[in-house]
Amino acid sequence: MLWRATSGIELKTPAEVEAMRVVGRMAGESLCMVDDLIRPGLTTDEIDAAVHEDTLRRGAIPAPLHYVGTGGTVPYPRSVCTSVNEVVCHGVPGPRRLAPGDIVNVDITHIFDGFHGDTSATFYVGEPSPEARLVTEVARLCLDAGVAQVRPGARLGDIGAAIQELAESWGCSVVRDFVGHGIGRRFHEEPKVEHYGARGRGVRLRPGMIFTIEPMINLGGHRTRVLDDGWTAVTADGSLSAQFEHTVLVTSTGAEILTQRPRALRNSERFAAQPR
Ligand code: MF3
Ligand code: CO
Ligand code: CO
Repeated sequence: MLWRATSGIELKTPAEVEAMRVVGRMAGESLCMVDDLIRPGLTTDEIDAAVHEDTLRRGAIPAPLHYVGTGGTVPYPRSVCTSVNEVVCHGVPGPRRLAPGDIVNVDITHIFDGFHGDTSATFYVGEPSPEARLVTEVARLCLDAGVAQVRPGARLGDIGAAIQELAESWGCSVVRDFVGHGIGRRFHEEPKVEHYGARGRGVRLRPGMIFTIEPMINLGGHRTRVLDDGWTAVTADGSLSAQFEHTVLVTSTGAEILTQRPRALRNSERFAAQPR
């Protein structure tokens, strides 16, 4: 409907916002379920099976399963993405066993009542190395810094700039090949939310916009490459990568995180720089 369009970006109605709250909260709860499972020896296949079952038990659909990305050709084969160490995103679950010192991002997207909720966190398996802790905590702070920019009248470039400045101040780099995205009835819609950029540039935020912020932060260079499975993206230089993601609503005064969790993530937030 033309009257709802803003540069091709949907403004959600109050009823749509409420549906997005419901599915967002559900995805946050599923991430807490995963938190309870994380331990050395767990396979990423086991994470997939648990998320698949948990999603169905909630009456939701796992959005990743058979998803064909924009421009992609290979349908995604699993119900969740599990990205270990140098895997930037879209890691495909398999027989790999998590080992002490690994970091693993688990990215969950549910569909409920026709709407998508998309959220991820990076978890520590056992005790992290100083490098693993650095890249993970910088990624966590980058998501917070991005969300803190969200209010009506701000621009998408403000989000990207805040994230990029923070990441680079810690000697880390921001992935450019993958970005956040509008979300609603579709998994990925307008706008593209870059995690780098310039203040004052890009689309002006308006109440009712819903998009993800999901910075992927590398310890080394920003470049990535996709493995032969057509999905798994890794750092080109093999360095560690971490990511956090929320689905965020622009409200009349600021931001509302739609993928709230009912409690802190023990296997992630226990090494956070500050109590949160
Ligand atoms: N959840 C990812 C995102 O944040 C997308 C995964 S697409 C999949 O946008 F097919 F790999 F699941
Ligand atoms: Co996303
Ligand atoms: Co996601």
